Amino acid sequence: MIRLNRYLRNATNQYDKISIMNIRFLLLIFIYILIGPASFATDPLTSEGDDGYRLWLKYEPVTELSVKAEYIKYATFIGQSGKGEILQSASSELQTGFQKLLGKNVPVTESPGKRSGGIVFKLIPGTANDRQDEGYQVQLSGGNIVVSSKSENGILYGAFALLRHMQMQLPVKNLNLASNPKVRYRMLNHWDNTDGTIERGYAGSSLWKWYELPERVDPRYQDYARANASLGINGTVLNNVNASARFMSQEYIVKVAAVANVMRKYGIKTYLSVYFAAPKTLGGLTTSDPLDPQVRAWWKEKVTQIYKEIPDFGGFLVKANSEGEPGPQDYGRTHADGANMLAEAFKPYDGIVIWRAFVYKADPKEDRFKAAYEEFVPLDGKFDPKVIVQVKNGPIDFQPREPFSPLFGNMPKTPLGIEFQITQEYLGFASHAVYEAPIFKECLESDTYVNGKGSTVANVVDGSLHSYSRTLMAGVANTGSDRNWTGHPLAQANWYAFGRLSWDHQLSSEQIAREWTELTLTRNQKARESIVGLMLRSREIYVDYNTPLGLSRPWMGVHFAPEPWQNKGARPDWTAVYYHRADSVGLGFNRTESGSNALVQYRPQVQQQWNNPDKTPLPYLLWFHHVGWDKKLSTGRILWEELCTRLYTGADSVSWMQQQWDLAKSSLDPQIYTDVAQRLKIQHREAIWWRNAWVLYLQTFAKQPVPKGFEPPKQTLEEVKKSVNIYLMR
Ligand code: GCU
Repeated sequence: MIRLNRYLRNATNQYDKISIMNIRFLLLIFIYILIGPASFATDPLTSEGDDGYRLWLKYEPVTELSVKAEYIKYATFIGQSGKGEILQSASSELQTGFQKLLGKNVPVTESPGKRSGGIVFKLIPGTANDRQDEGYQVQLSGGNIVVSSKSENGILYGAFALLRHMQMQLPVKNLNLASNPKVRYRMLNHWDNTDGTIERGYAGSSLWKWYELPERVDPRYQDYARANASLGINGTVLNNVNASARFMSQEYIVKVAAVANVMRKYGIKTYLSVYFAAPKTLGGLTTSDPLDPQVRAWWKEKVTQIYKEIPDFGGFLVKANSEGEPGPQDYGRTHADGANMLAEAFKPYDGIVIWRAFVYKADPKEDRFKAAYEEFVPLDGKFDPKVIVQVKNGPIDFQPREPFSPLFGNMPKTPLGIEFQITQEYLGFASHAVYEAPIFKECLESDTYVNGKGSTVANVVDGSLHSYSRTLMAGVANTGSDRNWTGHPLAQANWYAFGRLSWDHQLSSEQIAREWTELTLTRNQKARESIVGLMLRSREIYVDYNTPLGLSRPWMGVHFAPEPWQNKGARPDWTAVYYHRADSVGLGFNRTESGSNALVQYRPQVQQQWNNPDKTPLPYLLWFHHVGWDKKLSTGRILWEELCTRLYTGADSVSWMQQQWDLAKSSLDPQIYTDVAQRLKIQHREAIWWRNAWVLYLQTFAKQPVPKGFEPPKQTLEEVKKSVNIYLMR
């Protein structure tokens, strides 16, 4: 070709030039036919650098030639077997996937007949509304790959499972992908406000552009829906739990309907958070008392109005009488009264009411740990069957490590859903790499012992322990308008992990990390191993420099800057000192019988694990005990030394994370490599900052030097205190 170009430049005769150009054109066509279109399908994202937009749905061309040849055998048609819009989404995703993976344009047919060599959907007639209906099977049969399910959702999930399989270049011989979801409602909770801000969001502003809706529907909503459906997520709550009443206005309902129209095509139902006092503030009534007939009528009418616009509306999520939000207790009623009133409004429809158990009163003498249990356990059996009570994984608030909430297992007559936080409110925002699957798994695998050994939180949540049919897992979303969705590129893995675990809580953290890394970052095995290693250790490293030995830090403010000295707040439980209880004797919150006795909310077997400071596993020690500075621990070190050891090794280990990332450099897209490498630098600097803040502050109580082998902080406590201003913005 080069020689031909040179010849063309030298050609003087006009006819010579034309015929040479023809030859060049023919040559190009010939090469194109020979190699196949896939080799020419340059993706603009890969040629310009990967901006992370495509998440785990990249569909990079298959490079294993024998595998590619196998796949191509089934790439002659897609037998959609019906017209349903979710089936259409499944077909179009397969078309996109095949185009990118194999360079093949695969036509869709609604009636495949007896043809072979394609992907065929098979809807099995069956009962509706069972979570098993969303399960799928993908198998070889009659020369086709057959995706079967009892529901359109199941077909879509099967199609995504097949594409995941093909992205990983796995063989199709003996193909058998079969899976049923363990939980029925698998959903994201967005804490997004009408003005585009996101409470505890660190990836830009809200995805939902309320000012444009309903006329303009951002194409990004569809990519959001695709990403969720690929994991099996089937619900989304669009707005903040600290809800604006505006979402109940007709103006907003039609905006929500426009988003719901996109979600529906991907089997996702749309939900809204509600402001409990809306009948008064929006409806102009004199009260929002749940037992008032006018209030009940207002909600019924409201729900009817919503269903007119959104026929498959999912339901309401409610934060009531919590952190200043209104609720039924404002009228002397219970949470059950409030929830049941709303459930009544949903009677004619499929929708549900999700009532949050995140409550705690301003009581200086009490332990916030105990609040949700005390308020909700007495209400067991009093909720309408359409109500699910949504419980945060731990008793306080999404700490880097928390014991499981004692509510799990203690409300056998009430379906309890679990709420995890994907957004990194307490986990370093979008600057720290913390892979969260181990946090989710740790809670799900905890044994409550309510029905004897093996009564895990997962068994409570998936309904197998108390036979709940309405089961739910929710994750507070970490998505935003940043081009890569989650700010930190590695935070995509947390969205992915939540989704995969909400479908199947038995998957391991490692398996999910491996899968995500391969789909999203690199196919190079060595590179993958070092990234997976980094991910799997990241949570423990974070805990070590941030909240070692069971410290917690849910104090008010931005929830990130280190401020263990903070002792002023509107309420005692909104200060730092309330939680760590550092004094001249020691550190930690005594929750045993001699303290707040929160431990009594657990079964005796669980109490036994945690009620003796000599036997409590070190990760939970300061959650339950006030431990003397000189107390010798199982490691052979005294408390002060152990704290310092963890704070220092934690901060140092971030350099190890940097090395692991660098090992993968040559196999990574340069744009993603650089982005993460730079964020790891911030993480390293801030880990040292956290370490110094704890060491210098706690030293004022422990009155001991930094142990030998560790270099004392170069800053003074006063200097560290000033440096938190960058996060506090004051
Ligand atoms: C935390 C968080 C709040 C949020 C609340 C909730 O306290 O900091 O921003 O509103 O949890 O879950 O309701």
